[in-house]
Formats: sequence, structure tokens, C-alpha cells
Amino acid sequence: MATNTLTHVGPIIRTELPGPNARRVLEGDKKYISPSYTRSYPMVAKTGRGIMVEDVDCNQFMDFAAGIAVCSTGHCHPEVVKAIQEQAGRLIHMSGTDFYYENMVTLAERLSKIAPMKGPHRVYYGNSGTEAIEAAMKLARYHTRRQNIIAFYGAFHGRTMGSLSLTASKPQQKRRFAPLVPGVTHVRYPDVYRAGVAPRNAEAFAYECARFIEDKVFKTTLPPEEVAAIFVEPIQGEGGYVVAPTVFMQELRRICDRHGILLVVDEVQSGVARTGKWWAVQHTGVEPDILCCAKGIGSGMPLGIMMSRAEIMDWIPGSHASTFGGNPVAIAASLATLDVLEREGLENAREVGDHMMKRLNQWPSTVPLVGDVRGRGLMIGIEIVADKQQRTPGGELRDTIVETAFYKGLLVLGAGPNTIRLCPPLILTKEQADVALDILEECIRNAEGGKSIADPYSIGQPQGS
Ligand SMILES: Cc1ncc(COP(=O)(O)O)c(C=O)c1O
Repeated sequence: MATNTLTHVGPIIRTELPGPNARRVLEGDKKYISPSYTRSYPMVAKTGRGIMVEDVDCNQFMDFAAGIAVCSTGHCHPEVVKAIQEQAGRLIHMSGTDFYYENMVTLAERLSKIAPMKGPHRVYYGNSGTEAIEAAMKLARYHTRRQNIIAFYGAFHGRTMGSLSLTASKPQQKRRFAPLVPGVTHVRYPDVYRAGVAPRNAEAFAYECARFIEDKVFKTTLPPEEVAAIFVEPIQGEGGYVVAPTVFMQELRRICDRHGILLVVDEVQSGVARTGKWWAVQHTGVEPDILCCAKGIGSGMPLGIMMSRAEIMDWIPGSHASTFGGNPVAIAASLATLDVLEREGLENAREVGDHMMKRLNQWPSTVPLVGDVRGRGLMIGIEIVADKQQRTPGGELRDTIVETAFYKGLLVLGAGPNTIRLCPPLILTKEQADVALDILEECIRNAEGGKSIADPYSIGQPQGS
């Protein structure tokens, strides 16, 4: 990566986008790669360092997507790279399903220390978020001997058949894949803004959403003693970075306790220090029975984790496993990741998140098209609306803004139908955050003025400096 990243804060766009090398890769991609992927803009990455990513044409971008909230310590953090290299030189694979190795236990001990529920705990290792969710679904059924699961509209829990059955985010994720796993009931998630609820009524609304489970679902269609688990994201990720009010989470806990139902928190996106606490659920004071995480836990190495209170994990040998799950290199990356986050990431996510929020909280009243801003730490959603009064979802406008930001050298992604998500590496500085928000604000103002990516940009000039 070019050395000027050391002094220059912000993107540097040197070529038209996509540049000539990027275009070559895009042609190959079009020919060979599954068309099921959802790319918002033609970003062809070559190298990364910290919060910056350089493309194949030497353009440098600020990465506020972090590989979908994965690169928690930034790209190629030296401590993570070193841990991966050293471990790869010693032992790459052994398979914890059939053999033992030490760092599998070391990481479990470490996770147990930071778990959001009282111990003792046990840990299951997979390779991805969806595997962590599949494991939780199977464990919940196994332990409770019950079949049914409750999940929420707007939820995204993954794309394999079990987790997809819980997902209720976009129809294309499910179309033509039926039959899915039976026994899943979806209920409303407390999306306060989208429901048109005034802030002063938010708690009452959220409480009602939880109460609906006991007052209606359990009294009409679903006997509670047949429900194994409630799966919930404390902050919906793909659903639009929607924060569940504390009363909602607390009421879910009470309902679970009353009926012997397991509360499973999906912290695949919200977990591992992203919100300024190790786990987003800790903002609510609620203790889950099972926790799933992935993404940020390995700084980019594939690792999915399902952990529970020890007495819940009562399944017998052979009931669940994965050849690659928790391989030594991914675990080494994870241990180094936790070191970095413990030392600086956790507090930084809080501090820089607060810093950004101070400015962003003004946007619904000062910046056009911004209907709502919400989040915790460095998990921030900006909801784009075509009409603020009516809260009319501005999906196309959001897409234009996301795309325009790319051309300005800022990588962001959408979440939900009309929200921009900001999930940068947790080592972001305030200075970098300010530059990125300047760019984003400009993109939003341009979108309001009808300017699109077709408009000329100052190609060749450093952006946002
Ligand atoms: C909350 C949540 N759960 C589960 C998943 C699935 O994770 P993966 O893509 O690693 O299978 C995701 C992915 O975005 C997620 O955000």
C-alpha cells in the first residue's frame, strides 16, 4: 500500500472507477462467479491496512464496511498477521472434532471470561455465522426436546437451511428454496422508527411487541411448552441496524424464564466489542442462554462460535461437529483479535462511536433525506427517507448514496430496505471518522439535489482531505 496513507487522512482516487485493472477482474467475475452475490459497486480490493483498502488500480478507500463488520481490528493488523503466520508455521489443521489442541481450549476459557451470562460455559466452534446459528438451533431442540422456534421479522440469521428458516429479511433470500425447516414463527421486532412510533412511546411499543408473544401467539397458535427457543439480534444487522429497546429484551427474558424457553442472542454482527461492550446484549442487562458470534471474532479468519451455559450443552458425542470448525489458525487470529480489542478496540468503539453520534444525531434535523440515526458504538445506521414527515422509505436514494460514496472513496453498505450502515474497524480515529462523515454528508446532500454518480468527480484528487 502506498506510503502516503501514513500522513494523508482520507481516500485517494487516482483513476476513473472502476479502473483498468478492476475492469479486467470484473469481466472474469462476470464470467465465472456465482451471480447470487450482491455487489453494490465495483470495488476490487488488492491490499488493506488499518481502515484503508487499496484497489487493483492503486485507489485508496476508507473502509466503513470492514468486510461486513468483520475486520474489527482493521485490515491486516500486525498482531493478527503475526499470530496467523506463526500458527500456520506450526499447525494449520488437526480437526477438533476428533483430536485435541491447546488453543481451542485457550480461546474457550477466554470467551468464558467475557461471556454475557453466568458460567460455567461451553463453546462450540464452526466456521461462520450461519454455522453458529445452525448449532444453536440444533442444541436448543436437543436440550429442550421441543421443536418450535420464535424469530423476528427483519431478522437475518444466515442462509443455510436452518438459519434461513429464521431469517425474515428479504424475499429473494427465500424464494424457491422451500421447504425450509418447519416450526418457526415470526413476530414483530420493535422497529420504533419504521412503525411510525413517537420517541416518547418507544418503550411502550417495544414492550407490546414482546408481550404479543405471550398474549397472542401462546394463546392461539403455539403452545409455549412446545417452544425451544427465541432467537433475537439485540441490534438487527441486515434488517437495518435497528436497536431493540431494553424493555423488549427484558420482557423476552421474562417470557423465556416463565416457559422454560431458551433465549438465543445472535451477536454475529453486533458482538465482539463493536457496540463498545463485548456484546450488544450487555447494554440491556439481559443474560442470554446461548450466544452466537462470528464476523469480528477472527478479524477476517473464518470462525463461528456458539456458546451456552454449560448445563445446556448436554448433547452427546457425534450429535454435532464440523471438520474445519475452530481450526488452529482461525483461533490464533481470534486470540490476537481479542488482545487488540481488549487493549484498545472496546474503549475506542465507545469513544469514537460517541464522537460520531454527537454529529450524526443532528442529521435528522439538519441533513436532507436523513430520517433517523441510531446505533451503539461503531454499529450505526442512518435511515434514508424520501419524505421526513411521512417517513417514506428512500431505498433508491440510499442506493445512490452508497454508490456515490464509493466514487468519493468511502466504502459503506446498505442494511435493510433504506438504511446506510456504518461498521468501520474498531481502531478508527476521530479524525478519520470526521473525514468519512464529511464525505457521506456531501453524498447525501448531492442525492437530495438529484446529483448522481453520473456527475463528474474530481478524479485524481485526494478526496475528503
Ligand atoms: C446477525 C447475523 N447472523 C448471522 C449471519 C450469517 O453469518 P455468515 O454470513 O457468516 O454465515 C449474519 C451475516 O450477515 C448476521 O449479520
